Amino acid sequence: MLINRRFTLTAASLLVGLALAGCGKQEPAAPTTAAAPPPPAAARVLVVGTDAAYTPFESQNEKGEIVGFDIDVVKAIAQKAGIEVKFVNTPWEGIFNSLDQGDRDLLVSAITITDERRQTMDFSKPYFDARQLIAVRSDSPVARFDDIKALKVGVQNGTTGDEVVGKLLGKSSTSIKRFESTPLALKELEAGGVQAVVADNGVVAHYLANNAGGGFKTVSDAAFPVEHYGIAVKKGNAELLARIDKGLEDIKADGTYARIHASHFGTGSK
Ligand code: ARG
Repeated sequence: MLINRRFTLTAASLLVGLALAGCGKQEPAAPTTAAAPPPPAAARVLVVGTDAAYTPFESQNEKGEIVGFDIDVVKAIAQKAGIEVKFVNTPWEGIFNSLDQGDRDLLVSAITITDERRQTMDFSKPYFDARQLIAVRSDSPVARFDDIKALKVGVQNGTTGDEVVGKLLGKSSTSIKRFESTPLALKELEAGGVQAVVADNGVVAHYLANNAGGGFKTVSDAAFPVEHYGIAVKKGNAELLARIDKGLEDIKADGTYARIHASHFGTGSK
């Protein structure tokens, strides 16, 4: 029934398009496609971009499925909002561009809401709080952020970790080693190529607990500001943003968010 109706609608707009094209004198196809309004959010599967190398927020399991806290949150929001979503692994490096180009409808990727990013995209209400955290060898004398000044430091390129380290060491300092992903930066710490990594607390803590086989510790510093993760949509997509914000509100109100949070981070206080 629904499929039929949609088909009829599509057929109808095609006919209108053809008719319009027929009226145009010189340029038949281009004006009609440009004039076709985008289907409303609920009418198609929305593509969600995520850099799935960020456990426990987003990662790819053995079956190749994209899973994690962010994924569960967006799935739950989508359900409340009456939208259909599918997740597509999208390297961090091109993630914001993919949104801008319209290749992705939304992004969920432990993305910190920053004033700079707000210039080029719109964000949902915050759904999670984080901070930067330093990873060093257990025998490292580093006790606070300032102590990494003289070290080789690994960060994920273009993240808020990259930004804070750039502020401390100087953006173009050769002591900053920028990696495509946070796990690659942490692997380099294990290999001894860098002496510290600065990245989001949840990911650093999870990695050291599960991958590094001991020998490393974390150092927190109150100087790091609290960061708020948001879901990003293309600038000006107010309709979709409103749906997402409402969905987020709903999953917080009915306990779904708390349940998802507990399933990924345990029941301890957030
Ligand atoms: N929160 C940090 C930022 O927004 C890092 C996010 C990286 N996310 C990822 N999935 N790799 O810059």
